[in-house]
Amino acid sequence: MTTRKAALITGGSRGIGAAIAERLAAHGWDLTISARGLDALNERAEALRVHGGRVEVEVADMTDDAALADLTAAHTAAYGRCDALVINAGMGVMGAVEDFPVRRLDRLYQVNLRAPFLLLQGMLPTLRATAGTDGAAKVIAISSITGVYPEPNLTAYGSTKAALISMCETFNLEESVRGVSATAICPGYVDTDMSEWTKGEGAIPAEEMITGADVATVAHAVTQLGRYAVLPQAVLSRPGTNLHRA
Ligand SMILES: NC(=O)c1ccc[n+]([C@@H]2O[C@H](COP(=O)([O-])OP(=O)(O)OC[C@H]3O[C@@H](n4cnc5c(N)ncnc54)[C@H](OP(=O)(O)O)[C@@H]3O)[C@@H](O)[C@H]2O)c1
Repeated sequence: MTTRKAALITGGSRGIGAAIAERLAAHGWDLTISARGLDALNERAEALRVHGGRVEVEVADMTDDAALADLTAAHTAAYGRCDALVINAGMGVMGAVEDFPVRRLDRLYQVNLRAPFLLLQGMLPTLRATAGTDGAAKVIAISSITGVYPEPNLTAYGSTKAALISMCETFNLEESVRGVSATAICPGYVDTDMSEWTKGEGAIPAEEMITGADVATVAHAVTQLGRYAVLPQAVLSRPGTNLHRA
């Protein structure tokens, strides 16, 4: 009997996280999905269970340390393993440095960087145990192309995403020898709720954006990499002359 793989996916109720959950569930994975809104999580979980796997739902706000600790403990208690930790939940705020409220900067760092760090720390024993002596466990962090190439009015957001990339790369130096490695996926605009403000005429049509399914394809590919293949960063750009723009 082959062992079923298990993933913990934050922000799994919609957008990119939901697309990754769908892809992994379709490939026979068991899942824990988390977000703040319980109804959306339950609805998503029901749809995912159609694939025949187990889906656990955990409400956790990324700004709540205790909820993060409960989330990692609940995943480990449920499955006893973590083949992929998908750090996806995040928030975006635009604004020039000139008048960007520092409270918003603090919240961005809390959700986009501090929570990922705590998740990484909380899941590390389980990730190490899953990798064992000859296997692999993957951390997949959804960063952004703005973490790689600068974009106007995204100093605060972009810097959290750049720090997330750095976190993955440095983590690999510490942990990849134990079979646990991290990949920061850095997409340009993806057609989700978060990019709603930039869609439409004169802006970017939704149908010309990267899809959640595209990001899921990269995430799933990362889970297929073995212990001796480390992919620190994967930039996913939109086509055209502005490849380095979101
Ligand atoms: N869309 C883009 O253009 C784009 C491009 C590059 C990178 N990204 C990154 O990709 C990730 C996913 O974005 P998305 O576009 O899929 O966003 P989305 O459609 O807005 O979905 C965000 C998900 O995260 C959850 N979430 C939001 N804030 C949370 C919080 N404080 N605590 C816990 N869960 C929270 C949401 O559920 P609840 O609201 O119920 O909590 C939802 O499940 C983010 O890290 C984002 O920065 C997005």
